[in-house]
Amino acid sequence: MSNSLEQLKATGTVIVTDTGEFESIAKYTPQDATTNPSLILAATKKEEYQKLVDIAIEYAKDKGASPKEKASIALDRLLVEFGKEILNIVPGRVSTEVDASLSFDKDATVKKALEIIELYKSIGISKDRVLIKIASTWEGIQAAKELEEKHEIHCNLTLLFSFVQAVACAEAKVTLISPFVGRILDWYKASTGQEYDGESDPGVISVRKIYNYYKKFGYNTIVMGASFRNTGEIKALAGCDYLTVAPKLLEELINLTDAVPQVLESGKAKESQEEKVSYINDEAQFRFLFNEDAMATEKLSQGIRSFAKDAQTLLGQLEAKFE
Ligand SMILES: *[C@@H]1O[C@H](CO)[C@@H](O)[C@H](O)[C@H]1NC(C)=O
Ligand SMILES: *[C@@H]1O[C@H](CO)[C@@H](O)[C@H](O)[C@H]1NC(C)=O
Repeated sequence: MSNSLEQLKATGTVIVTDTGEFESIAKYTPQDATTNPSLILAATKKEEYQKLVDIAIEYAKDKGASPKEKASIALDRLLVEFGKEILNIVPGRVSTEVDASLSFDKDATVKKALEIIELYKSIGISKDRVLIKIASTWEGIQAAKELEEKHEIHCNLTLLFSFVQAVACAEAKVTLISPFVGRILDWYKASTGQEYDGESDPGVISVRKIYNYYKKFGYNTIVMGASFRNTGEIKALAGCDYLTVAPKLLEELINLTDAVPQVLESGKAKESQEEKVSYINDEAQFRFLFNEDAMATEKLSQGIRSFAKDAQTLLGQLEAKFE
């Protein structure tokens, strides 16, 4: 009997390893991989990644007026250097995050994304191999729309906790969304005190609804479930386009031989009860409906704060090197 990971892959789901560490990426050889300031912050504490920091410092040395500006330039270069190392290992794409402090500024997000793509280009990496990762705020989704439409730059919309965000992302024709399953579960467990299994898990229910809606109405945006807390959540989404899974849970799936039947199917999705809605041109409605969802509102804010904090820490460390 094949292990549960093999069975999961047999349902058509592409598995991406959720790690920023090269050893793990090399070990699990996912199709795609991701990087962000939090992962880089952890990695830069290790000796073997110092050379990447050195490249970034050297690059920013003569650019930017103040240590602060230099640090910001160095951070972009560092993200891209990590991205390049990852692309040496994975066959697919690497996600690179736009600084979360720009999450409520559409134009600044577009500008930063163009700069990142330009940096990749300068070291010989084409935009086809990069996903720009943006928080799913109203402004972030509008920025992604412009990047995809005008510049053919692929985007990965993250910190996605609600149907309204998912609908707007599909209408923006973003390449990929990464709804956070486990973080939704965390919120419900904390606020209700209840335990949930795979079937009753609110994170699972949310992603199933999004998947069915996308397939029913023919949207091409890839649904990639992320942030899993247990293998039950993962199995309950078998058949989803992509799932990104931490090494520890991948190992658990390899150790298991439980059957993993396909749950999500585009054919079946066509029979779901979802009705078509539209939010991409209706900011007031988007914001109102999003605000109605306490979980999504809190989780998005919290996610942006934590991404921004790690970016600030990393920037602080880089700034110190220019003083
Ligand atoms: C998209 O972003 C999510 C959330 O940060 C990440 O886990 C995932 O690996 C990214 N997807 C791809 C295909 O890079
Ligand atoms: C998987 O099984 C191996 C071998 O039995 C064991 O060493 C490892 O701890 C297990 N991993 C997990 C995550 O359960």
